[in-house]
Amino acid sequence: MRRLHVDLGERGYDIIIDRGMIARGGIAEYLSSPGGKTAVITDENVDKYYGNAVTSALRGTAAKLVLPAGEATKSFETLQTVYEFLFDFQITRSDLIIALGGGVIGDLTGFAAATALRGVPYVQIPTSLLAQTDSSVGGKTAVNTARGKNLVGAFYQPRAALIDTDCLKTLDDRTFADGMAEVIKYGCIRDEKLFDDLARGEIAEHMDDIVTRCCDVKRAVVEGDEFDTGERMILNFGHTLGHAVENYYNYQKYTHGEAVAVGMYNISLAGERIGVTPRGTAEKIKRVLTKYRLPYALDVDAAALRGAMALDKKSTGGGVNIILLDRIGHAVIRNMPKNEVFQ
Ligand SMILES: NC(=O)c1ccc[n+]([C@@H]2O[C@H](COP(=O)([O-])OP(=O)(O)OC[C@H]3O[C@@H](n4cnc5c(N)ncnc54)[C@H](O)[C@@H]3O)[C@@H](O)[C@H]2O)c1
Repeated sequence: MRRLHVDLGERGYDIIIDRGMIARGGIAEYLSSPGGKTAVITDENVDKYYGNAVTSALRGTAAKLVLPAGEATKSFETLQTVYEFLFDFQITRSDLIIALGGGVIGDLTGFAAATALRGVPYVQIPTSLLAQTDSSVGGKTAVNTARGKNLVGAFYQPRAALIDTDCLKTLDDRTFADGMAEVIKYGCIRDEKLFDDLARGEIAEHMDDIVTRCCDVKRAVVEGDEFDTGERMILNFGHTLGHAVENYYNYQKYTHGEAVAVGMYNISLAGERIGVTPRGTAEKIKRVLTKYRLPYALDVDAAALRGAMALDKKSTGGGVNIILLDRIGHAVIRNMPKNEVFQ
């Protein structure tokens, strides 16, 4: 078992990484519900594998809502279903909500928890690699709107993130690779040794260690900039370009991680062009991406991408805040005109 603490004062919480914790019923010791009720929100895929193990480990009264899997679930319509479920269960602010699933369930449940009764405590039990290394830590919650992804949300920290890396065994290959893009990102922006380990070798037996190192980077960045006004932007390495690619293809062709992979490689090429990123860095990133079955080639022309970036939350008046590597393991923020980013 490994434990990290996200030090945000009274909003601080532990991240517990413990393989097999769900099957053993070990989650119970980290869950506290003074009101005696726990509401579990999950999706149909995750429920199949972990729903019963989680609910049977709970003390007091439990209720479970199983939602359809997929990004479409992060909608206002489903949010309404979640509120109705919580109020039918007569949830109070002394009770607890559990988000059991990937980033979709985590973001949606977190937003429902932030807003129902103006805030009910919640715990993240992330089950996808992306959720275990990224979305379950840091308190960003959101739903999508017809105008774009994550445009409505709140910063609302969970009471704990309970990570069982055994969950990764039931992910399909593409969803696992999707999460690997974020893992590679952490190596790029903050952990050269992680990047080298990923470049070198087999990771299957070391997922506890890898997830812990990713969470530790995220922990440190979030502690320094909880509300995303400065340094936290480095977590967006590859994302500005990636979002534009996802948006251009209407979220159909690439998964988020695949688009970020394309973004990390191509923004590093741009960084090399303007002399911030050392020559050869993009090539190193390309080799690691390829090793973990992620794409790197940009198949959209620059003008179309500039258009697709219009609604990116990182855009400012004259240009766009871009994250570049001045070496593997260290990221810098630069404000650049869009046409310099996309050539
Ligand atoms: N809040 C944040 O800081 C943050 C950060 C990054 C991404 N996100 C959000 O996260 C979402 C993407 O998350 P995701 O990639 O986890 O997507 P997801 O939640 O849709 O999960 C991907 C797929 O894997 C399935 N799944 C999850 N865990 C499983 C398991 N253990 N075994 C079998 N199947 C499993 C899900 O049912 C789903 O079909 C996006 O909406 C994105 O905006 C949020």
